[in-house]
Formats: sequence, C-alpha cells, structure tokens
Amino acid sequence: MGDVKEAITISVTGAAGQIGYALLFRIASGAVFGPDQPVNLRLIEIEPGMPALEGVMMELDDCAFPLLESMHGTTDLDDGFKGADWALLVGSVPRKAGMERKDLLGINGKIFTGQGQAIARSAASGVKTLVVGNPCNTNALIAMNNADGVPKENFFAMTRLDENRAKSQLAAKAGAHCSEVSNLCIWGNHSATQYPDFTNAKLNGKPITEVISDHDWLKGDFIKTVQQRGAAIIKARGASSAASAANAAIDTIVSLTNETPAGDWHSVAVCSPGAYGIDEGLMASMPIRTNADGTWSVVEGVPVDEFSREKIDASIQELREEREAVADLIP
Ligand code: NAD
Ligand code: LMR
Repeated sequence: MGDVKEAITISVTGAAGQIGYALLFRIASGAVFGPDQPVNLRLIEIEPGMPALEGVMMELDDCAFPLLESMHGTTDLDDGFKGADWALLVGSVPRKAGMERKDLLGINGKIFTGQGQAIARSAASGVKTLVVGNPCNTNALIAMNNADGVPKENFFAMTRLDENRAKSQLAAKAGAHCSEVSNLCIWGNHSATQYPDFTNAKLNGKPITEVISDHDWLKGDFIKTVQQRGAAIIKARGASSAASAANAAIDTIVSLTNETPAGDWHSVAVCSPGAYGIDEGLMASMPIRTNADGTWSVVEGVPVDEFSREKIDASIQELREEREAVADLIP
C-alpha cells in the first residue's frame, strides 16, 4: 500500500443550497482534489437551512465515499472554517428574473464581512477562498478586506462559468468541440458588463477570428449571449444555474491547483496587482496562469485592442461603482 495522504479541510457555505447539492458529492468523490486525497467537509448554513443540510449529510453518508474522512454541519462561522484549507463561499441569496447581480449587494454583501473575519481567525494559515455567491467579485472584495492577515492573493471570485459558456458558444459557431477552444479570457466583473475576449481566443491553436468569419456575431450576439446567459437560465429554469456553477467552481479549483498548460490561461477574478490598467486591489477577472509551485500569475502581454479596451474599461468602471456602494463594509 502507498502512503495515505493527510486529509485536507474544505469549508462550504450555503451547503444545503442548489449549488451545494451539485458540489459536495463531487468534492467527496475525489473529482476536485484528486482520487487519492482524503477530505474533511465543514458545511456551513444559516438556521433555516439546517434541516435540509442534515438531509444532504445523510446522503453523503449513504454514498460511502472512501475519501470522505469526516463531515460536520454548523451555523457557527468559526466552527465552520476551523482548519480550512479551502473556503468555498457559496451561501447567499440568488437573484430573481429582472434583477442584475449587483442588486443583491445590499442583501448579500454584509454576509462576507463576518465570513472574511472568521476565515482569518479560524482557517488554516494557507487558506484559499473562492467566492461564488453573487455579486461574487465584490463579495470577494469584502471578504478579502475583512480577513486581516490572510494574503490577498489567496482570494478568488468565480468567472469560470462565463469562460465555459463562451467556449461552448464559440465551438458551436465554428462547428467544433468546446475542448478545442483555448485562450479564452473573461475580463472584469461576473455581470452583464463582463467581456469574453474573443480577440485572443484560439481554436486548435488558430485565432478564432480566422476560423469564424462572422465578426459582427463575435462583437455582438456572442458577447451578449455570454453576458446574459445567467439571466437566460433563470428565465428558462425558474432558478439560477446550479450544476454548471458547481462544475465551474470545480474547474476553478482544479485550474488553481494544477500547472496551466503551456501557452494557455484560465479566467478567475483575483485581487488586481494593477495589470492591464485595472485598478490595484479590485477583484477583477483576467488571464491567469497557475505556476508549477502552486502560485498564480497574471499572463503578461495579452494583446488588448481598442475594442477590447473599451469593453474592459466599462466592466472595471462597474467594479469601482460596486466597491463604492459597499465602502461601509470595507475597513
Ligand atoms: P440557493 O438559494 O439554492 O442556496 C443558497 C444557500 O445559502 C441556502 O441554503 C441558504 O440557506 C444559504 N445561505 C444564505 N445565507 C447564508 C449565510 N449567511 N451563511 C451560510 N449559508 C447561507 O442558491 P444557489 O443556487 O446555491 O446560489 C448561491 C449563490 O451563488 C447565489 O448568490 C447565486 O447568485 C450565486 N451563483 C454564482 C455563480 C457564478 O458564476 N459566480 C453562478 C451561479 C450562482
Ligand atoms: C450565473 O451566471 O448563472 C449566476 O451568476 C446566476 C445569475 O444570477 O445569473
């Protein structure tokens, strides 16, 4: 028998919600951290969610996952984040049809002050935090700024669902498979201003702008479809995306824990180091590479033409406004 790895601890808020239900079983199965990596799950809910969480935990038990070493459900943040190597902040209210994600700031923003503080007090020293709850960029900004002593580079907000959506749209238009699309960057905010950058995307190594001749579609319907996909799903399903969101959270973690293939990048919102004219300290999505040593870097030298610049600037301006709107939650 080989050496058994020590279990890592994954804390998940909103664990009894839709995304939680699509996420926890894949974490416990080994699909996220590897087939030989035991995990402890610490599941955080608010009081009304606890009965449903008990049911979810019964189901996790009933899977008899070999890698699930322990699980614990709680409403207490310090208890929930105790020893966490990863904190997945999913718990928050989803929008309804007709709302923009930033309309949730007033309801959800304040959740992330206490969570950031509890992560700083109780999680493992190298804890990494991925915010999924909307509006995820600014919620992550709040958590990060309330987590005294936790390195800012350990906070992320999810734009991978947008990247995956964009890749599928481009592949469908090109009559190809989404796995053939690379170098797709989502810039800015996970919102209707996000910019899915087709100008640098490639299909089997060839610029997508050479493969897809309908540039009006790329500049128009393509961008709009990706920007509005969340709303389209709410309209069709009567509830916001859940399985695809959980899947994107998994893709994000896998991409942040494995070296990025040479020449490619992945999309995730990080604390901007000031790259590409994006204000330092904003949580903005940009092209990211995960290095062999597990650190990440912003990919340098990605061409930004006039069209892209305008789109990126509009999304960054929205992030500035969101930060302004939650100034009272940022110490
Ligand atoms: P849901 O309503 O099904 O579940 C949310 C869960 O969070 C509920 O069980 C609720 O009890 C719990 N919760 C609420 N406040 C909490 C708190 N303070 N602490 C702990 N738990 C709390 O919602 P969902 O469909 O799972 O979506 C969750 C969030 O994810 C929403 O804000 C949604 O908009 C967002 N989302 C983001 C993306 C993305 O791409 N970034 C994609 C899909 C959904
Ligand atoms: C999504 O993009 O599907 C989520 O952010 C949910 C939403 O509100 O659109």
